[in-house]
Amino acid sequence: MAEEIIQIKDLKVHYPIRSGFWNRITDYVRAVDGVSLSIKEGETYGLIGESGSGKSTIGKVIVGVEAATEGQILYKGKDITKSRNRKKLNYNKDVQMIFQDSMSSLNPRKRIEDIIAEPIRNFENLTTDEERKRVQELLDIVGMPSDAIYKFPHEFSGGQRQRIGVARAVATKPRLIVADEPTSALDLSVQAQVLNFMKQIQQQYNIAYLFISHDLGVVKHMSEDIAIMHRGRFVEIGKSADIYNNPQHIYTKRLLSAIPIVDVNRREEHKRMRQKVEKEFQDNRDKWYDKDGRVYPLQQISDRHFVALPKDAINSELEGEK
Ligand SMILES: Nc1ncnc2c1ncn2[C@@H]1O[C@H](COP(=O)(O)OP(=O)(O)OP(=O)(O)O)[C@@H](O)[C@H]1O
Ligand SMILES: [Mg+2]
Repeated sequence: MAEEIIQIKDLKVHYPIRSGFWNRITDYVRAVDGVSLSIKEGETYGLIGESGSGKSTIGKVIVGVEAATEGQILYKGKDITKSRNRKKLNYNKDVQMIFQDSMSSLNPRKRIEDIIAEPIRNFENLTTDEERKRVQELLDIVGMPSDAIYKFPHEFSGGQRQRIGVARAVATKPRLIVADEPTSALDLSVQAQVLNFMKQIQQQYNIAYLFISHDLGVVKHMSEDIAIMHRGRFVEIGKSADIYNNPQHIYTKRLLSAIPIVDVNRREEHKRMRQKVEKEFQDNRDKWYDKDGRVYPLQQISDRHFVALPKDAINSELEGEK
């Protein structure tokens, strides 16, 4: 059994809202409002939700560009919200990020060689020759020609730039990569290529991913476990197959029914399913949120499947779960 590489415990990130003449804090944006998850070595944890649900905020706290308001992040069992532990564990080297928009995340004025070498320079003392050799290896791993080192980001297509972003992220031989919508900006065919080599690299180097997306269809193929995020909380978590074949929360059902159907023969059936889910949502709006409009705490419904419903709703709600 693989060990857990990272654990998040009851994480909250609240941003103050200031207003009025005195610019006082009048309320908070509850970007992340109490979520827990754990990712095992070499596995992929999929994080899905609509825009503004808090996905990127979780990723940012993990890589340390945003601070937790409450809660813990344990890396190899140690709380890395304490900077002493981050240092001791080489956390900043071991945990890297891939961004959605490689055009703005790759410095346009730097050559690819320097872009990929930058994280290596931060953590290792390599000679110029050793460094170039490493950069060439990394380009090879992501399927880019070796003369790419002399070029600039704008000389590449979106898919190629995402490959460069992945090469940069794996340059320090990380244990965990937060991939925030890494393929959302790409055409479908290119998306599939990038996902495939991300998977290859994962298997080759035993890297864990937190894979963030708004598209359940993409994440299904990548992830062992999936969390569905909504209003700063998880509405449902489980194994990929459980979420996909046996969704329980109305919000998960809505996401699933929003995945376009390719098979023409199933379009009518899919449309009816969509209408049914939409009706179920509209008819019972109050059921899914507490009186303050917040998502309920998660309840366990089977081995690794949890759903956010009021306690008394659990039994009547379950359909086909053993
Ligand atoms: N620095 C900030 N100050 C105030 N509010 C913020 C800040 N950063 C994010 N938010 C708010 O927190 C919430 C969650 O944002 P977040 O970027 O995590 O969502 P997301 O799920 O990644 O969305 P998307 O799919 O659009 O990327 C949003 O309501 C956002 O407006
Ligand atoms: Mg985001």
